[in-house]
Amino acid sequence: MKKKPLLALLTSGGDAPGMNAAIRALTLRALEVGYRVIGFKSGYNGLLDEDYIDLDREQVAGLIHNGGTLIKSARCERMKEPAGILQAANSLRKLAVDALVVIGGDGSFRGATEIAKHWQGQLIGIPGTIDNDINGTEQTIGFATAIDTALDCIDKIRDTADAFERIFVVEVMGRHCGFIAMECGLASAAEQIICPELIDDERSYLNTLMGDIRSDLDQHRGQSYVIVLAEHALSLSCDELAKRIALETGIDTRATVLGYVQRGGAPVAGDRILATQMGVCAVDAITTGHNQIMIGIKDNQICHFDLAKSGEKNARNAAIIQRLERFHLN
Ligand code: F6P
Repeated sequence: MKKKPLLALLTSGGDAPGMNAAIRALTLRALEVGYRVIGFKSGYNGLLDEDYIDLDREQVAGLIHNGGTLIKSARCERMKEPAGILQAANSLRKLAVDALVVIGGDGSFRGATEIAKHWQGQLIGIPGTIDNDINGTEQTIGFATAIDTALDCIDKIRDTADAFERIFVVEVMGRHCGFIAMECGLASAAEQIICPELIDDERSYLNTLMGDIRSDLDQHRGQSYVIVLAEHALSLSCDELAKRIALETGIDTRATVLGYVQRGGAPVAGDRILATQMGVCAVDAITTGHNQIMIGIKDNQICHFDLAKSGEKNARNAAIIQRLERFHLN
């Protein structure tokens, strides 16, 4: 009997709600077109250690609504070294993998692009990260859920901020990108949204910010005031910023770091559907001979993008600035 071609997949970097939906879609579509499917455990670690599980219909049944990732994720230090890349390529050859799908962020795709220099099989990326910081796609899997989770928290903070007439600084994730802060800041009608893309000179940015907060408060005494802060946007921590605002305004100011809650929970419908579309289209790209591409979405259409260029950020930074300038009403 002819041996089935082998499709391997892995989830790498920060987990994102909807990764499981992508695993399900990839598995079901690949089985349908005649592949055997395996999932490497804990990101690139599983590939390096040849540690994997077979994925079949039973494994992926009932998976679409679960957060996290069935095959686990990890950040893999060994993949930052040339020896790790060579070992990954060797494992793929040894296991006779025909195609590898990497679900993750730009760091994970950098690893994949390096592997491609030493391995002849097909390599496809699926953007899965809550940060939405990947070039070549308007949306990544997990972003929509993370915004809703953060928004739910900020709405609750607004209630207590209102009750006490306090200022709150709420830090959200995003690594070095302000997409989460921008979207949940707009959706929660936050008075200030601090994104790294807006800051050239931190000193003058902070001076302007303090002036704006003081003048807002002068005009609207007795109201709550919510500031959404993207992590790493400033050299000050969330707590330090809150203390400085309290000092400058004389108003009770509290800090809340939302943290990992943003990575968890059941994926919202949009993420489940995006992940399903991307999973199916990744397998279709493989069967039609594509290689070293990332599956993206643009104008509601699935598209292919050069995997090696997925780490470039410039165009997307400009999009954040334009959107905030136009739609942040205060
Ligand atoms: O990339 C997703 C993300 O959650 C970022 O928003 C955050 O900066 C980072 O991962 C946290 O990484 P770790 O899980 O390694 O602490």
